[in-house]
Amino acid sequence: MENDNKDHKVGRREFLGTAAAAASFMIIKPEQVRGTAANSAVRLGVLGCGGRGTAVATGFIDSTDTRVAALADLFADQLAAAQKHFDDYQKAKGYAAIDAAQLFKGPKAYEEIVTSKEIDAVLVSTPPYFHPHHLEAVVAAGKHVYCEKPVGIDVPGAKRVIEAGKKAQGKLSLAVGFQIRKAPPYVEMVRRIQGGALGKIGCGLAYYYCPHIDRPDWGNASAETKRFRNWVWDRHLSGDIIVEQNVHVIDICNWILQGHPVKAVGTGSRKLREDAGNCYDNFNLVFTYPNDVQVSFGSTQFDKHEFDAAVRFFGTRGSCEAHYDHRMSIAGEEKWDAGLGGAAQAGGQFSAAGTFKGSLDQADPEKQKAFVESIKSGNFLNEAAQGADTALSAILGRNAAYSGKAITWDELMKSKEVYDPKIDINKLG
Ligand SMILES: NC(=O)c1ccc[n+]([C@@H]2O[C@H](COP(=O)([O-])OP(=O)(O)OC[C@H]3O[C@@H](n4cnc5c(N)ncnc54)[C@H](O)[C@@H]3O)[C@@H](O)[C@H]2O)c1
Repeated sequence: MENDNKDHKVGRREFLGTAAAAASFMIIKPEQVRGTAANSAVRLGVLGCGGRGTAVATGFIDSTDTRVAALADLFADQLAAAQKHFDDYQKAKGYAAIDAAQLFKGPKAYEEIVTSKEIDAVLVSTPPYFHPHHLEAVVAAGKHVYCEKPVGIDVPGAKRVIEAGKKAQGKLSLAVGFQIRKAPPYVEMVRRIQGGALGKIGCGLAYYYCPHIDRPDWGNASAETKRFRNWVWDRHLSGDIIVEQNVHVIDICNWILQGHPVKAVGTGSRKLREDAGNCYDNFNLVFTYPNDVQVSFGSTQFDKHEFDAAVRFFGTRGSCEAHYDHRMSIAGEEKWDAGLGGAAQAGGQFSAAGTFKGSLDQADPEKQKAFVESIKSGNFLNEAAQGADTALSAILGRNAAYSGKAITWDELMKSKEVYDPKIDINKLG
């Protein structure tokens, strides 16, 4: 058999990426293919080298057999800071520095990194506005992709991601950054709920109360550059707080209820935050899920109040409560406690990079392991449809609040509205 021939050379891309390689993986030992353990590492490119991209890629190095081999960013300062971080971090572990030829800067940096022959997978951690375009580019280049949430900020964008997911199906791994779905206490709680621990669920509560997110001043930069750099304050770059940030707890609701909302109604406003952006600082909505399950939803993003993000569900046999950084339990006929204590272990602190203590300690490492294992095993995961479904759920709530009218899922799906920040990125940086 050809694959048993020691002289047969299997390329890295073939080994780490293609369906053919997936089939051959079972009969080629990694050491026969590339000789050393280091060689078998997944080579990751980071597209968008900010807080989250740096945190997730560092986590990949720690939790999996991954090396960061390429970096891309619109801005030179972001690229340089990430280069220093990863070179220091990887050198301390005895790994090579990133090749200077694998550092890509500017508006076309995404095209250069996705076509690099030195990487197997790309972490898309640019602002949400870019996600459909960047994710499509990675899939078109035949690389595995880990895309941060939200996958899109408007309906056409989310639909593009669903299409890209179809192209990747069975050929590439496509993960979406909802790491909570891998956090062991959440996995256990949802397993119990789906096993009937709450009985018939009648209603629920989901909230994401977050203090204001501070951003640097960016010195003498132009007003447009400042707006862009502080994208998290701008609804046309972020999708607003419900789509960019609160989407995590909406994803937990979708996970528990095994579906998406069919209707949303409510309100929201911008009245207390004082930054230069145009995002709302509060949303208050009711989502209706299948089987007439109502979920009250609330969120904030202003000032200095304590951070807390949680979901609760109430059923005929019990109720559940799950916070990001403290208590997680089920009360009623099938009591369960995740043993995380009653008081906030992280003191109600918000983490801009999404790394929390307590119930989410293992969320990122488990998510990263699952992604790398899916690549190495050839059992490619594909979270495009699920990621888009949750982004659309948040968009449903946002659009209902903006319009002040109830919106159904079916009405939302007809939306052709495209969020456009109207910024020429060729003139930035
Ligand atoms: N899963 C989580 O828990 C979690 C936590 C925090 C952030 N996020 C998500 O991660 C993404 C990034 O957030 P962040 O906090 O790291 O933001 P950030 O501003 O710190 O980083 C974004 C980076 O992308 C770069 N960039 C912007 N436009 C670009 C382009 N067109 N091409 C190349 N580079 C570009 C910026 O210069 C910056 O370095 C967002 O989608 C955010 O919602 C997820």
